[in-house]
Amino acid sequence: MGYQAHLRVWRGDAEGGELRDFTVEANEGEVVLDIIHRLQATQCSDLAVRWNCKAGKCGSCSAEINGRPRLMCMTRMSIFEPDEVITVTPIRTFPVIKDLVTDVSYNYQKAREVPSFSPPKDLQPGEYRMQQQDVNRSQEFRKCIECFLCQNVCHVIRDHEDNKANFAGPRFLMRIAELEMHPLDSLEENTGADRTAVAQSDHGLGFCNITKCCTEVCPENIKITDNALIPMKERVVDRKYDPILRLLPWRKR
Ligand code: SF4
Ligand code: SF4
Ligand code: FES
Repeated sequence: MGYQAHLRVWRGDAEGGELRDFTVEANEGEVVLDIIHRLQATQCSDLAVRWNCKAGKCGSCSAEINGRPRLMCMTRMSIFEPDEVITVTPIRTFPVIKDLVTDVSYNYQKAREVPSFSPPKDLQPGEYRMQQQDVNRSQEFRKCIECFLCQNVCHVIRDHEDNKANFAGPRFLMRIAELEMHPLDSLEENTGADRTAVAQSDHGLGFCNITKCCTEVCPENIKITDNALIPMKERVVDRKYDPILRLLPWRKR
């Protein structure tokens, strides 16, 4: 049955803005993005909101709903009381462009800075072979939809703009971990660059103090901290301090 939902939406741009109150019709089975679209269609035709799939797969509708980073298209209205005020604000870690739309180009810049997969020079396409357990491990990381909710919630950059230059954030540290764990990645053999050093020195792995906030908000339920960041930290320590491991040519594990 339909009811009138109480919405408080941030409206503004890079110069500033404010929270505004609206009453919008809501119906059974709807999600927050439906209500935002109805608000746009009936009361605020210039409301800026980014979305594409409405299925939790494109990662574009990230916002903070009652202070919690979420995908608007995957947040059911039924989790709120009908008389509750639902506050929708843009994700805070990135600069606002307009209303609920932020400039997430920081993330694309960090993505570009991660050295890409480097296959062994003597293997031809079609000759790559991997154990299923190695496939499974990277498969978890590849579920990422690049919603950047983990980036948004990480305190290293959320409260410290200055750290952005030296910290890639959980999504891209996870990408480095994925490549480091790839049994065929030969970046070091091909270029001399060690991915553990890339993570620690170039992308700020040491800033991460494993609070797991990133893991808590991931809509794909990727265990970012347990399966990517902590193993990466262990590998950094192994590479730096294990005297035997440093001498072994097959030390990559
Ligand atoms: S676990 Fe690390 S990367 Fe994740 S939110 Fe905490 S500090 Fe940031
Ligand atoms: S790891 Fe999860 S929270 Fe982070 S960008 Fe990917 S899907 Fe979003
Ligand atoms: S609209 Fe694609 S994830 Fe929400």
